[in-house]
Amino acid sequence: MHFREYIEKLDKNSSITKIKKEVSIDIEAAAVLKTAEPTPLLFENVKGYPNFRVAGNVFCTKTSIADYFGITTSQLIPRLTEAIDKRSPPEVITNAPCQEVVMNGVNLDKLPILKHNESDGGRYISSAVVVTKDSEFGQNLDFHRAMQFSANRMSTRIIKGRDFYKFLEKNGEVDAAYCVGNTPNVLVAAATSVKTGINELEIANALSPMEVTKATTLDLIIPAGCEFVLEGRVFMNDRSNEGPFIDLTETYDIVREEPVFEVRRITHRKNPIWQALLPGALEHKVLMGMPREPTIYKAVNEAGVKCLDVNVNPGGSSWLHAIVKIDKQNEDDGKKAIHAAFQGHRSCKHVFVVDKDINIYDPLEVEWSMATRFQAESGLVDIGKEPGSSLDPSAEPGTKITNKVGFDFTAPLVTKGKGFAKAEFPKVDLRDYIE
Ligand SMILES: Cc1cc2nc3c(=O)[nH]c(=O)nc-3n(C[C@H](O)[C@H](O)[C@H](O)COP(=O)(O)O)c2cc1C
Repeated sequence: MHFREYIEKLDKNSSITKIKKEVSIDIEAAAVLKTAEPTPLLFENVKGYPNFRVAGNVFCTKTSIADYFGITTSQLIPRLTEAIDKRSPPEVITNAPCQEVVMNGVNLDKLPILKHNESDGGRYISSAVVVTKDSEFGQNLDFHRAMQFSANRMSTRIIKGRDFYKFLEKNGEVDAAYCVGNTPNVLVAAATSVKTGINELEIANALSPMEVTKATTLDLIIPAGCEFVLEGRVFMNDRSNEGPFIDLTETYDIVREEPVFEVRRITHRKNPIWQALLPGALEHKVLMGMPREPTIYKAVNEAGVKCLDVNVNPGGSSWLHAIVKIDKQNEDDGKKAIHAAFQGHRSCKHVFVVDKDINIYDPLEVEWSMATRFQAESGLVDIGKEPGSSLDPSAEPGTKITNKVGFDFTAPLVTKGKGFAKAEFPKVDLRDYIE
Protein backbone atom coordinates (compact mmCIF):
# COMPACT_ATOMS: atom_id res chain seq x y z
CA MET A 1 0.00 0.00 0.00
CA HIS A 2 1.55 3.27 -1.16
CA PHE A 3 1.46 6.53 0.82
CA ARG A 4 -1.60 7.87 -1.01
CA GLU A 5 -3.51 4.60 -0.72
CA TYR A 6 -2.94 4.68 3.03
CA ILE A 7 -4.24 8.26 3.09
CA GLU A 8 -7.30 7.10 1.14
CA LYS A 9 -7.79 4.32 3.70
CA LEU A 10 -7.56 6.86 6.54
CA ASP A 11 -10.11 9.01 4.71
CA LYS A 12 -12.53 6.08 4.37
CA ASN A 13 -12.27 5.51 8.13
CA SER A 14 -12.62 9.25 8.82
CA SER A 15 -9.19 9.11 10.45
CA ILE A 16 -7.66 12.01 8.51
CA THR A 17 -8.90 15.60 8.60
CA LYS A 18 -9.09 17.30 5.22
CA ILE A 19 -8.34 21.03 5.31
CA LYS A 20 -10.20 22.79 2.52
CA LYS A 21 -9.29 26.33 3.62
CA GLU A 22 -6.32 27.87 1.78
CA VAL A 23 -3.15 27.32 3.84
CA SER A 24 0.33 28.70 3.25
CA ILE A 25 3.40 26.47 3.37
CA ASP A 26 5.18 29.44 4.93
CA ILE A 27 4.86 28.56 8.68
CA GLU A 28 1.03 28.32 8.62
CA ALA A 29 0.83 24.63 7.54
CA ALA A 30 3.36 23.62 10.23
CA ALA A 31 1.44 25.59 12.87
CA VAL A 32 -1.82 23.85 11.93
CA LEU A 33 -0.12 20.43 11.97
CA LYS A 34 1.40 21.06 15.41
CA THR A 35 -1.93 22.24 16.81
CA ALA A 36 -3.72 19.18 15.40
CA GLU A 37 -1.02 16.67 16.40
CA PRO A 38 -1.38 13.62 16.42
CA THR A 39 -4.35 13.85 14.03
CA PRO A 40 -3.32 13.26 10.39
CA LEU A 41 -4.12 16.22 8.11
CA LEU A 42 -4.45 16.60 4.36
CA PHE A 43 -4.18 20.17 3.06
CA GLU A 44 -6.21 20.27 -0.15
CA ASN A 45 -5.79 23.96 -0.93
CA VAL A 46 -2.09 24.87 -0.68
CA LYS A 47 -1.53 28.58 -1.32
CA GLY A 48 0.47 29.06 -4.54
CA TYR A 49 0.56 25.32 -5.31
CA PRO A 50 -2.79 24.44 -6.91
CA ASN A 51 -1.51 21.12 -8.26
CA PHE A 52 -0.15 19.78 -4.98
CA ARG A 53 -1.64 18.56 -1.74
CA VAL A 54 0.31 18.33 1.52
CA ALA A 55 -0.20 15.60 4.15
CA GLY A 56 1.27 15.59 7.62
CA ASN A 57 1.03 13.91 11.05
CA VAL A 58 0.35 10.66 9.16
CA PHE A 59 2.53 8.40 11.34
CA CYS A 60 2.70 10.21 14.70
CA THR A 61 2.11 7.19 16.89
CA LYS A 62 3.21 3.59 17.17
CA THR A 63 -0.46 2.68 16.79
CA SER A 64 -0.59 4.32 13.33
CA ILE A 65 2.56 2.50 12.25
CA ALA A 66 1.25 -0.82 13.58
CA ASP A 67 -2.04 -0.11 11.81
CA TYR A 68 -0.21 0.30 8.49
CA PHE A 69 1.37 -3.15 8.98
CA GLY A 70 -1.93 -4.62 10.20
CA ILE A 71 -0.44 -5.63 13.55
CA THR A 72 -0.67 -4.51 17.19
CA THR A 73 1.89 -2.18 18.79
CA SER A 74 3.26 -5.05 20.88
CA GLN A 75 4.08 -6.91 17.64
CA LEU A 76 6.25 -4.03 16.32
CA ILE A 77 9.50 -5.04 18.06
CA PRO A 78 9.30 -8.70 16.92
CA ARG A 79 8.28 -7.61 13.38
CA LEU A 80 11.19 -5.20 13.04
CA THR A 81 13.66 -7.68 14.55
CA GLU A 82 12.53 -10.33 12.09
CA ALA A 83 12.70 -7.93 9.12
CA ILE A 84 16.30 -6.99 9.99
CA ASP A 85 17.27 -10.69 10.25
CA LYS A 86 15.25 -11.99 7.28
CA ARG A 87 15.76 -9.31 4.65
CA SER A 88 14.29 -9.87 1.18
CA PRO A 89 14.81 -8.05 -2.13
CA PRO A 90 11.88 -5.92 -3.34
CA GLU A 91 10.35 -6.41 -6.79
CA VAL A 92 11.92 -4.18 -9.46
CA ILE A 93 9.43 -2.57 -11.84
CA THR A 94 9.53 -0.14 -14.77
CA ASN A 95 6.92 2.60 -15.36
CA ALA A 96 6.98 3.42 -11.67
CA PRO A 97 4.32 5.73 -10.17
CA CYS A 98 6.98 8.07 -8.74
CA GLN A 99 8.18 8.80 -12.30
CA GLU A 100 4.78 9.51 -13.87
CA VAL A 101 5.73 13.18 -14.26
CA VAL A 102 9.22 14.55 -14.98
CA MET A 103 9.33 18.22 -14.02
CA ASN A 104 10.47 20.60 -16.70
CA GLY A 105 13.86 21.80 -15.43
CA VAL A 106 14.71 22.08 -11.75
CA ASN A 107 13.14 24.86 -9.74
CA LEU A 108 12.70 23.96 -6.07
CA ASP A 109 10.38 26.95 -5.65
CA LYS A 110 7.82 24.91 -7.60
CA LEU A 111 7.64 22.31 -4.83
CA PRO A 112 5.56 22.89 -1.66
CA ILE A 113 8.60 22.66 0.61
CA LEU A 114 7.55 23.92 4.06
CA LYS A 115 9.11 26.64 6.11
CA HIS A 116 8.29 25.28 9.56
CA ASN A 117 9.08 28.09 11.98
CA GLU A 118 10.11 31.75 12.13
CA SER A 119 13.71 31.08 13.22
CA ASP A 120 14.40 28.36 10.64
CA GLY A 121 17.21 29.01 8.15
CA GLY A 122 14.83 28.45 5.25
CA ARG A 123 12.44 26.01 3.60
CA TYR A 124 13.26 22.44 4.61
CA ILE A 125 12.66 18.97 3.26
CA SER A 126 12.39 16.94 6.46
CA SER A 127 10.64 13.71 5.41
CA ALA A 128 12.96 12.60 2.61
CA VAL A 129 14.43 9.12 2.64
CA VAL A 130 17.82 9.48 1.01
CA VAL A 131 19.05 6.67 -1.24
CA THR A 132 22.80 6.55 -1.85
CA LYS A 133 25.33 3.99 -3.06
CA ASP A 134 28.98 3.06 -2.71
CA SER A 135 30.91 0.72 -5.02
CA GLU A 136 32.03 -1.43 -2.06
CA PHE A 137 29.01 -1.30 0.25
CA GLY A 138 26.09 -1.00 -2.18
CA GLN A 139 22.94 0.96 -1.43
CA ASN A 140 22.00 2.73 1.80
CA LEU A 141 18.91 4.52 3.11
CA ASP A 142 19.10 7.43 5.58
CA PHE A 143 17.21 10.56 6.55
CA HIS A 144 18.95 13.86 5.87
CA ARG A 145 17.11 17.13 6.27
CA ALA A 146 17.81 19.55 3.42
CA MET A 147 17.50 23.36 3.42
CA GLN A 148 16.83 25.11 0.13
CA PHE A 149 19.10 28.07 -0.60
CA SER A 150 18.72 28.47 -4.38
CA ALA A 151 16.52 27.21 -7.20
CA ASN A 152 18.45 23.92 -7.46
CA ARG A 153 20.71 23.69 -4.41
CA MET A 154 20.15 22.66 -0.82
CA SER A 155 22.48 22.20 2.14
CA THR A 156 21.93 18.83 3.77
CA ARG A 157 22.76 17.77 7.33
CA ILE A 158 24.92 14.63 7.31
CA ILE A 159 26.09 13.66 10.78
CA LYS A 160 29.59 12.18 10.99
CA GLY A 161 29.40 8.40 11.30
CA ARG A 162 26.31 7.95 9.14
CA ASP A 163 26.77 5.56 6.23
CA PHE A 164 26.21 8.42 3.78
CA TYR A 165 28.96 10.41 5.55
CA LYS A 166 31.30 7.43 5.12
CA PHE A 167 30.45 7.23 1.39
CA LEU A 168 31.09 10.98 1.00
CA GLU A 169 34.37 10.84 2.93
CA LYS A 170 35.55 8.08 0.62
CA ASN A 171 34.26 9.37 -2.71
CA GLY A 172 34.09 13.16 -2.29
CA GLU A 173 30.81 13.35 -4.18
CA VAL A 174 27.94 10.86 -4.26
CA ASP A 175 24.73 10.49 -6.28
CA ALA A 176 21.63 10.75 -4.13
CA ALA A 177 17.88 10.40 -4.55
CA TYR A 178 15.79 12.28 -1.96
CA CYS A 179 12.46 10.41 -1.91
CA VAL A 180 9.40 12.09 -0.36
CA GLY A 181 6.03 10.49 0.41
CA ASN A 182 6.97 7.13 1.86
CA THR A 183 5.21 4.45 3.88
CA PRO A 184 6.34 3.10 7.30
CA ASN A 185 8.23 0.11 5.87
CA VAL A 186 10.58 2.51 4.05
CA LEU A 187 10.57 5.17 6.79
CA VAL A 188 11.35 2.74 9.60
CA ALA A 189 13.95 0.84 7.54
CA ALA A 190 15.69 4.14 6.71
CA ALA A 191 15.79 5.05 10.40
CA THR A 192 17.40 1.79 11.50
CA SER A 193 21.16 1.68 12.00
CA VAL A 194 22.41 -1.61 10.67
CA LYS A 195 25.86 -2.72 9.55
CA THR A 196 27.23 -0.68 6.65
CA GLY A 197 26.57 -2.67 3.49
CA ILE A 198 23.10 -3.86 4.46
CA ASN A 199 20.58 -2.56 1.93
CA GLU A 200 17.75 -1.16 4.04
CA LEU A 201 15.33 -1.46 1.11
CA GLU A 202 15.49 -5.20 1.81
CA ILE A 203 14.47 -4.53 5.42
CA ALA A 204 11.62 -2.35 4.12
CA ASN A 205 10.47 -5.15 1.82
CA ALA A 206 10.63 -7.71 4.65
CA LEU A 207 8.51 -5.35 6.77
CA SER A 208 5.92 -5.03 4.02
CA PRO A 209 6.40 -6.14 0.39
CA MET A 210 7.11 -3.21 -1.94
CA GLU A 211 8.20 -2.31 -5.45
CA VAL A 212 11.32 -0.42 -6.44
CA THR A 213 12.53 1.11 -9.66
CA LYS A 214 15.70 2.59 -11.15
CA ALA A 215 16.09 6.35 -10.81
CA THR A 216 15.80 8.15 -14.16
CA THR A 217 19.29 9.71 -14.20
CA LEU A 218 21.19 7.80 -11.51
CA ASP A 219 22.28 4.22 -10.94
CA LEU A 220 20.13 3.96 -7.83
CA ILE A 221 17.16 1.79 -6.91
CA ILE A 222 14.38 3.80 -5.26
CA PRO A 223 10.92 3.13 -3.77
CA ALA A 224 8.61 3.00 -6.82
CA GLY A 225 5.51 4.18 -5.03
CA CYS A 226 6.78 7.32 -3.31
CA GLU A 227 5.32 10.68 -4.29
CA PHE A 228 8.39 12.75 -5.25
CA VAL A 229 12.01 11.98 -6.15
CA LEU A 230 14.75 14.62 -6.24
CA GLU A 231 17.69 13.15 -8.12
CA GLY A 232 21.10 14.80 -7.85
CA ARG A 233 24.56 14.79 -6.35
CA VAL A 234 25.93 15.63 -2.88
CA PHE A 235 29.37 17.21 -2.51
CA MET A 236 31.53 16.73 0.61
CA ASN A 237 33.66 19.81 0.00
CA ASP A 238 31.10 22.14 -1.58
CA ARG A 239 29.43 23.40 1.56
CA SER A 240 26.83 25.97 2.54
CA ASN A 241 25.20 27.17 5.75
CA GLU A 242 22.56 24.80 7.12
CA GLY A 243 20.26 25.86 9.95
CA PRO A 244 18.97 26.96 12.33
CA PHE A 245 16.47 24.12 12.47
CA ILE A 246 14.52 22.36 15.21
CA ASP A 247 16.18 19.19 16.50
CA LEU A 248 14.51 16.02 17.77
CA THR A 249 14.77 17.52 21.26
CA GLU A 250 12.52 20.47 20.21
CA THR A 251 15.46 22.80 20.83
CA TYR A 252 17.18 24.72 18.04
CA ASP A 253 20.24 23.28 16.32
CA ILE A 254 23.07 25.63 15.38
CA VAL A 255 24.10 26.80 11.91
CA ARG A 256 26.85 24.66 10.32
CA GLU A 257 28.51 24.44 6.93
CA GLU A 258 27.05 21.24 5.48
CA PRO A 259 27.43 19.45 2.11
CA VAL A 260 25.49 20.82 -0.86
CA PHE A 261 22.86 18.69 -2.57
CA GLU A 262 22.58 19.78 -6.18
CA VAL A 263 19.18 18.74 -7.54
CA ARG A 264 19.35 17.76 -11.21
CA ARG A 265 15.96 16.21 -11.90
CA ILE A 266 12.61 16.05 -10.11
CA THR A 267 10.00 13.39 -10.82
CA HIS A 268 6.66 12.89 -9.11
CA ARG A 269 3.35 11.07 -9.21
CA LYS A 270 0.31 12.58 -10.93
CA ASN A 271 -1.62 14.80 -8.46
CA PRO A 272 1.20 14.40 -5.96
CA ILE A 273 0.97 14.64 -2.20
CA TRP A 274 3.91 16.23 -0.39
CA GLN A 275 4.75 14.52 2.91
CA ALA A 276 5.33 17.07 5.67
CA LEU A 277 7.19 15.96 8.79
CA LEU A 278 7.38 18.39 11.70
CA PRO A 279 10.88 18.57 13.20
CA GLY A 280 10.99 17.60 16.88
CA ALA A 281 7.32 16.63 16.81
CA LEU A 282 5.76 13.22 17.48
CA GLU A 283 6.24 11.76 13.99
CA HIS A 284 9.94 12.64 13.99
CA LYS A 285 10.19 11.16 17.49
CA VAL A 286 8.43 7.88 16.79
CA LEU A 287 10.53 7.25 13.65
CA MET A 288 13.76 7.99 15.49
CA GLY A 289 13.03 6.10 18.69
CA MET A 290 11.17 3.03 17.52
CA PRO A 291 14.08 1.39 15.64
CA ARG A 292 16.18 1.52 18.83
CA GLU A 293 13.64 -0.52 20.78
CA PRO A 294 14.49 -3.89 19.14
CA THR A 295 18.23 -3.33 19.69
CA ILE A 296 17.66 -2.64 23.41
CA TYR A 297 15.21 -5.55 23.68
CA LYS A 298 17.77 -7.90 22.10
CA ALA A 299 20.66 -6.66 24.27
CA VAL A 300 18.67 -7.10 27.51
CA ASN A 301 17.53 -10.61 26.58
CA GLU A 302 21.07 -11.53 25.54
CA ALA A 303 22.25 -10.39 28.99
CA GLY A 304 20.08 -13.17 30.46
CA VAL A 305 17.23 -10.92 31.65
CA LYS A 306 13.71 -11.58 30.37
CA CYS A 307 12.83 -8.34 28.58
CA LEU A 308 9.12 -7.97 27.83
CA ASP A 309 8.94 -4.58 26.11
CA VAL A 310 10.86 -1.34 25.54
CA ASN A 311 9.61 2.22 25.10
CA VAL A 312 12.02 4.87 23.82
CA ASN A 313 9.46 7.42 24.91
CA PRO A 314 8.61 10.88 23.54
CA GLY A 315 9.17 12.46 26.98
CA GLY A 316 12.83 11.49 26.59
CA SER A 317 12.82 13.00 23.08
CA SER A 318 12.44 9.43 21.79
CA TRP A 319 16.20 9.12 21.91
CA LEU A 320 17.70 9.96 25.32
CA HIS A 321 15.48 7.77 27.53
CA ALA A 322 14.52 4.10 27.43
CA ILE A 323 11.91 2.44 29.64
CA VAL A 324 12.55 -1.29 29.86
CA LYS A 325 9.96 -3.74 31.16
CA ILE A 326 11.34 -7.00 32.55
CA ASP A 327 10.06 -10.20 34.12
CA LYS A 328 12.35 -10.08 37.14
CA GLN A 329 13.70 -13.48 38.20
CA ASN A 330 16.86 -12.50 40.10
CA GLU A 331 17.66 -9.58 42.41
CA ASP A 332 20.30 -8.21 40.04
CA ASP A 333 18.13 -8.38 36.88
CA GLY A 334 17.32 -4.66 37.05
CA LYS A 335 20.97 -3.64 37.09
CA LYS A 336 21.93 -6.14 34.39
CA ALA A 337 19.11 -4.77 32.23
CA ILE A 338 20.40 -1.20 32.73
CA HIS A 339 23.91 -2.06 31.52
CA ALA A 340 22.57 -4.07 28.58
CA ALA A 341 20.15 -1.32 27.52
CA PHE A 342 23.02 1.18 27.24
CA GLN A 343 24.81 -1.35 24.99
CA GLY A 344 21.67 -1.65 22.87
CA HIS A 345 21.41 2.12 22.33
CA ARG A 346 24.69 3.99 22.70
CA SER A 347 23.10 7.46 22.54
CA CYS A 348 20.78 6.78 25.49
CA LYS A 349 21.33 8.89 28.62
CA HIS A 350 18.83 7.52 31.17
CA VAL A 351 17.46 3.98 31.42
CA PHE A 352 14.46 3.11 33.60
CA VAL A 353 13.79 -0.55 34.37
CA VAL A 354 10.32 -1.51 35.59
CA ASP A 355 8.46 -4.67 36.56
CA LYS A 356 6.01 -6.53 34.34
CA ASP A 357 2.93 -5.01 36.03
CA ILE A 358 3.85 -1.47 34.89
CA ASN A 359 2.39 0.07 31.73
CA ILE A 360 5.49 1.57 30.13
CA TYR A 361 3.38 3.80 27.88
CA ASP A 362 1.85 5.59 30.89
CA PRO A 363 4.32 8.10 32.41
CA LEU A 364 2.22 8.22 35.60
CA GLU A 365 2.68 4.48 36.16
CA VAL A 366 6.41 4.68 35.51
CA GLU A 367 6.72 7.53 38.00
CA TRP A 368 4.55 5.59 40.45
CA SER A 369 7.01 2.69 40.29
CA MET A 370 9.82 5.15 41.05
CA ALA A 371 7.91 6.59 43.97
CA THR A 372 7.04 3.24 45.52
CA ARG A 373 9.83 0.82 44.53
CA PHE A 374 13.01 2.87 44.15
CA GLN A 375 15.75 3.68 46.64
CA ALA A 376 18.62 5.72 45.19
CA GLU A 377 21.27 4.04 47.30
CA SER A 378 20.54 0.57 45.91
CA GLY A 379 18.65 1.27 42.67
CA LEU A 380 20.65 4.03 41.03
CA VAL A 381 23.41 2.99 38.63
CA ASP A 382 25.77 5.84 37.80
CA ILE A 383 27.51 4.74 34.62
CA GLY A 384 29.67 7.85 34.70
CA LYS A 385 30.80 10.00 31.80
CA GLU A 386 30.63 8.50 28.32
CA PRO A 387 29.95 9.73 24.78
CA GLY A 388 26.17 10.05 24.41
CA SER A 389 24.12 11.90 21.87
CA SER A 390 25.02 14.97 19.79
CA LEU A 391 21.33 15.87 20.10
CA ASP A 392 21.52 16.41 23.88
CA PRO A 393 21.95 20.13 24.58
CA SER A 394 23.37 19.29 28.02
CA ALA A 395 26.11 17.00 26.66
CA GLU A 396 29.57 18.49 26.32
CA PRO A 397 29.62 20.33 22.97
CA GLY A 398 31.85 18.64 20.39
CA THR A 399 32.61 15.45 22.36
CA LYS A 400 29.00 14.40 23.22
CA ILE A 401 30.31 13.47 26.71
CA THR A 402 27.36 12.98 29.05
CA ASN A 403 26.66 11.43 32.45
CA LYS A 404 24.69 8.22 31.90
CA VAL A 405 22.46 6.99 34.72
CA GLY A 406 20.22 3.95 35.12
CA PHE A 407 17.26 3.67 37.50
CA ASP A 408 16.10 0.29 38.76
CA PHE A 409 12.42 0.78 39.62
CA THR A 410 11.77 -2.95 40.11
CA ALA A 411 10.49 -4.20 43.46
CA PRO A 412 12.68 -6.53 45.55
CA LEU A 413 11.76 -10.21 45.02
CA VAL A 414 11.47 -10.75 48.77
CA THR A 415 9.17 -8.31 50.52
CA LYS A 416 10.33 -7.27 53.97
CA GLY A 417 7.66 -4.77 54.94
CA LYS A 418 4.60 -3.63 52.99
CA GLY A 419 3.84 -5.25 49.63
CA PHE A 420 4.49 -3.57 46.24
CA ALA A 421 1.43 -4.68 44.29
CA LYS A 422 -1.09 -2.02 43.30
CA ALA A 423 -4.46 -2.64 44.89
CA GLU A 424 -7.20 -3.31 42.35
CA PHE A 425 -10.85 -2.43 42.89
CA PRO A 426 -13.46 -4.84 41.56
CA LYS A 427 -14.47 -3.97 37.95
CA VAL A 428 -18.10 -3.16 37.26
CA ASP A 429 -20.04 -2.20 34.15
CA LEU A 430 -21.12 1.40 34.70
CA ARG A 431 -24.06 0.92 32.35
CA ASP A 432 -25.61 -1.16 35.15
CA TYR A 433 -25.59 1.93 37.39
CA ILE A 434 -26.20 4.89 35.05
CA GLU A 435 -29.57 5.34 33.31
C1 LIG B 1 12.78 11.98 10.69
C2 LIG B 1 14.26 11.78 10.82
C3 LIG B 1 15.12 12.79 10.46
C4 LIG B 1 16.50 12.62 10.53
N1 LIG B 1 17.34 13.60 10.10
C5 LIG B 1 18.68 13.38 10.04
C6 LIG B 1 19.55 14.36 9.48
O1 LIG B 1 19.14 15.44 9.06
N2 LIG B 1 20.88 14.06 9.41
C7 LIG B 1 21.39 12.87 9.85
O2 LIG B 1 22.60 12.64 9.71
N3 LIG B 1 20.59 11.94 10.43
C8 LIG B 1 19.24 12.17 10.50
N4 LIG B 1 18.41 11.21 11.03
C9 LIG B 1 18.98 9.97 11.61
C10 LIG B 1 19.46 8.96 10.60
O3 LIG B 1 19.03 9.10 9.29
C11 LIG B 1 19.14 7.56 11.06
O4 LIG B 1 19.46 7.39 12.40
C12 LIG B 1 19.78 6.50 10.23
O5 LIG B 1 19.36 5.30 10.72
C13 LIG B 1 21.27 6.45 10.25
O6 LIG B 1 21.56 5.33 9.46
P1 LIG B 1 22.99 4.78 9.19
O7 LIG B 1 23.41 4.14 10.47
O8 LIG B 1 22.68 3.82 8.07
O9 LIG B 1 23.86 5.89 8.77
C14 LIG B 1 17.02 11.38 11.00
C15 LIG B 1 16.15 10.37 11.37
C16 LIG B 1 14.78 10.54 11.27
C17 LIG B 1 13.87 9.43 11.66
